[in-house]
Amino acid sequence: MSRRLSLLLLAFSILFPATLLAQPPTAPQQCPLNFTALRPFLAPPLPSDDASRCAFALQSVRLLLSLHLAATGSFLVPASSSCLPPLRDALPFPLPPPDACGLAGIDALLSAPGCANISTRAEFDARVPASARRDINASCDRELGAVPVCTTCTTSLSKTAAAYLLPGSPDGGNNVTGCVQYPFIYAGAAASLRGPDDPDTADCLYLLKANSEPSKGSGAPAWLYGVVFGCLAFVLLVAAAAASCFFVWRRRRRAAAAALAADSRSKRSHAMESITASTTLLKFTYDDIKMATGSFARDSIIGRGGFGNVYKGVLPDGAEVAVKRFKNCSAAGDAAFAHEVEVVASVRHVNLVALRGYCIAATQREGHQRMIVCDLMHNGSLHDHLFGAGECQMAWPVRQRIAIGMARGLSYLHRGTQPAIIHRDIKASNILLDDDFEAKVADFGLAKFAPEGMTHVSTRVAGTMGYVAPEYALYGQLTEKSDVYSFGVVLLELMSGKRAFMSLSEGESFVLADWAWSLVRRGKTLDVIQEGMAEPGPTKVMEKYVLVAALCTHPQLHARPTMEQVVKILEADSAPGPLIIPDRPLPVVANLADIERSVSSSTGSGQLFSPSGFRSFIHRDEDATPESPKET
Ligand SMILES: *[C@@H]1O[C@H](CO)[C@@H](O)[C@H](O)[C@H]1NC(C)=O
Ligand SMILES: *[C@@H]1O[C@H](CO)[C@@H](O)[C@H](O)[C@H]1NC(C)=O
Ligand SMILES: *[C@@H]1O[C@H](CO)[C@@H](O)[C@H](O)[C@H]1NC(C)=O
Ligand SMILES: *[C@@H]1O[C@H](CO)[C@@H](O)[C@H](O)[C@H]1NC(C)=O
Repeated sequence: MSRRLSLLLLAFSILFPATLLAQPPTAPQQCPLNFTALRPFLAPPLPSDDASRCAFALQSVRLLLSLHLAATGSFLVPASSSCLPPLRDALPFPLPPPDACGLAGIDALLSAPGCANISTRAEFDARVPASARRDINASCDRELGAVPVCTTCTTSLSKTAAAYLLPGSPDGGNNVTGCVQYPFIYAGAAASLRGPDDPDTADCLYLLKANSEPSKGSGAPAWLYGVVFGCLAFVLLVAAAAASCFFVWRRRRRAAAAALAADSRSKRSHAMESITASTTLLKFTYDDIKMATGSFARDSIIGRGGFGNVYKGVLPDGAEVAVKRFKNCSAAGDAAFAHEVEVVASVRHVNLVALRGYCIAATQREGHQRMIVCDLMHNGSLHDHLFGAGECQMAWPVRQRIAIGMARGLSYLHRGTQPAIIHRDIKASNILLDDDFEAKVADFGLAKFAPEGMTHVSTRVAGTMGYVAPEYALYGQLTEKSDVYSFGVVLLELMSGKRAFMSLSEGESFVLADWAWSLVRRGKTLDVIQEGMAEPGPTKVMEKYVLVAALCTHPQLHARPTMEQVVKILEADSAPGPLIIPDRPLPVVANLADIERSVSSSTGSGQLFSPSGFRSFIHRDEDATPESPKET
């Protein structure tokens, strides 16, 4: 037996060198690129002029190199291989002369490192830090068909080239497969969801459009996949149903509890999967955060709220961050968490707080942990500055900057995102200030996507006393105009240095919006402005800001401007002509005396509101006194 085997081995060892020798040793080395893979991308319309034909050829080379990298781990082809002839053969149009195309010497270019002496994937990995590679993975390991997704991916690739490759190779390496192209070749091979020759990936990374016809013709496999997966899912479903029936039959009560737990678990993991899939955020470990915040030290707490505490932390790279740690994490809390992370991650604007990452963990002692990590804002919140220790000292230019900043941030939420986002909890403590006192709208915990063109009616009103628009507080009617109202209240706080709402003695309360209105109504607009404000601005401008705030806090939502309009008015150097502010009905929290006065004054008709509903009064620039009302 063993003798036979050794004989066999002997025969092999004789035959094998023989077959090697049988090949002519002088044969030119074949180009290892797989030109067959180009076929789907060679459908009409094909490029017709020389420049685009050259570009097409170079893009094809990058796609092929990416496939080559995936297969071999090398960016290079062996030195003696000749790739230009097969490339010519593979393309269905004649290539211009190589010299005119940048293709001269392409074999030399392909066989030497194109960028920073990087020739293998391992060398690329050694050169580009793991965080940048994670970023590439997160942003490119997705369906790249949608333009924004593709842009996110290509942006991260260009950033990688600029940050880690070009500095080591200032001339950019060779101009065919150089430092700018390396990350694209890498991403196709190492990060893309379905490889570089997937139609969407090729379109995004190499600008090669796949022929749609054959892909339709070859739709059979896709269709087959559908059926197979469908069947599989069905079988699993049936199996699950059978299993649960079996459980019910065996032990009814315990089965119910188990099913509930399983359900909540799957819901949670689903929510978490959807975050990981839809964002390019960093995922921190519990230990990362614990270290950053000194084990959640008491003195690193910088904020407390109904949701949990906010800690200050320092990451290993020295970056200071704010960590919001949610308390009472349950399956229901997870949904809210996933929601907030998705909302914040989906919007990027100078005047919105940027999310760095998040952390999901389960610890033995503390149970489930959900945290989000944002950049730390050194200047704290607007609330701290207005109502912190002592009188607010902020100068007018700073206040103006903050007002415009928050207006821009909100305008972006309402108009710059699809679907629009209603923040629902605009208040001074949610406006954070960075080193330059640039306002950053924060805390999207209550944010809601606005159903398109619809007025949302909510049964559970969220928000903070004094800031909530009356129609929302009373009827749960939620629109972007609710945010406009809250913005107006914050703007009034910023102008007056007074709090939005204070309970006074004997059940009386001070409502800033009503107080300001009463002054504006009597032509004493300037009295709203905090006395002794540092570096006061031109009276006309400050007055304009108060009037805008009065307009924003109008009880009738149709009278309020949109945030876009507010930004325009606040940014304009001059007042935009007379501001027309519709008169108010009675304050929502009118007391009995007000109502009786109103009833007796409205010519005995018994209406609470004046017959014309709301009479406009026009605030003219040249005339600081508004028209006096018809009655009283
Ligand atoms: C070349 O690419 C084609 C199409 O993508 C594929 O079917 C084939 O297996 C590849 N050949 C090699 C040697 O990798
Ligand atoms: C690359 O550089 C060479 C000379 O260094 C030049 O002849 C060629 O046209 C360039 N190719 C491209 C695509 O710019
Ligand atoms: C490039 O890397 C190779 C090994 O991969 C090394 O032998 C060579 O010296 C390097 N060249 C430069 C210029 O760093
Ligand atoms: C990126 O993803 C690929 C495959 O999914 C994996 O092999 C690689 O290690 C990932 N890189 C990083 C930095 O996470």
